[in-house]
Amino acid sequence: MAIISDDENNKPEKNRNEDTTAEETNYDMSFEANIRPKFFEDYIGQSALKSTLKISIEAAKKRELPLDHILFYGPPGLGKTTLASVIATEMDTNIKITSAPALERPRDIIGILMSLKAGDVLFIDEIHRLNKISEEILYPAMEDFYLDMTTGKSQSLKSIRIPIPKFTLVGATTKAGSLSSPLRDRFGIIHRLEFYTEEELALVIKRTAKILDIQIDEKGATAIAKRSRGTPRIANRLVKRVRDYAIVKSNGLIDEKTANNALDILQIDKFGLDNTDRCLIKIIAEKYNGGPVGIETLATALGEDVKTIEDVYEPYLVQKGFIQRTPRGRKLTPYACNCFNLKNLDIQQSLF
Ligand code: ADE
Repeated sequence: MAIISDDENNKPEKNRNEDTTAEETNYDMSFEANIRPKFFEDYIGQSALKSTLKISIEAAKKRELPLDHILFYGPPGLGKTTLASVIATEMDTNIKITSAPALERPRDIIGILMSLKAGDVLFIDEIHRLNKISEEILYPAMEDFYLDMTTGKSQSLKSIRIPIPKFTLVGATTKAGSLSSPLRDRFGIIHRLEFYTEEELALVIKRTAKILDIQIDEKGATAIAKRSRGTPRIANRLVKRVRDYAIVKSNGLIDEKTANNALDILQIDKFGLDNTDRCLIKIIAEKYNGGPVGIETLATALGEDVKTIEDVYEPYLVQKGFIQRTPRGRKLTPYACNCFNLKNLDIQQSLF
């Protein structure tokens, strides 16, 4: 399977709280490509989704037709791109990877659609960010595999249909609600990716450690899994950081103690929260008496943009039961007050 990335911007999402240089980004991309599972049997987690996809793939192969268009949604880092590549491998075809911000001009999307070969998978990340014109070019391409083009000048404008090979579009979004209904309706398979369990993450960590020749024991893997906020991308990043610590501070083996010491230094707590998460909780508690507080106000107070809070920080905090979305804004839950020992406003020392 060939993987062709048409998108210069198609970098892995920026690491949380880290500025990455171009060199690091290239390194991260090859690191991710190295450890990315190629077949379903190597892909850990998302078992319900994998079962449905396997059946759809087998059926498509038997019918000798491309797979239906697929939409994956859910928080970042859960493996949407990886799954799209696995699908292409399992279908024995090629994948082209791009993202909506790289398809700004009509010629960008037309170019990529015309370059496809029969059966190819086209992966469009952040598909909710497609502009209206590009989106409308996609409709007939997805539905009947042709492009609607106009030629000629004013009075002699002519509309022509250009057939394109039958392909499978795999769209990915962190915001399913932002997709227009006409676009959403053209996907035959729509699936949410779930956060990973600690057990699944420990398996991902052990698999990555094996590929990268890192020594890790069971408890070391579990310790990292516990603080990886349900996200394999974070787990894989932490393995590398803990490996560095283990090399410098001990004999290179990642055991429970080494993992916990390294993660403490990285200021990732037992819930997997980092400084920004804790700061977010602290702001709601201290400045807004536990909430509710509007997302815009919260973003300003935190110095982050609304999108980053909504897409990156909030889903895990909601999933863990620390914050609640209400019509009047974000609120801390009694569980968060319990975990962080927040009593009335007497919270400052106890939180940090
Ligand atoms: N690396 C990142 N995500 C993975 C997954 N779901 N399974 C195995 N390895 C992974």
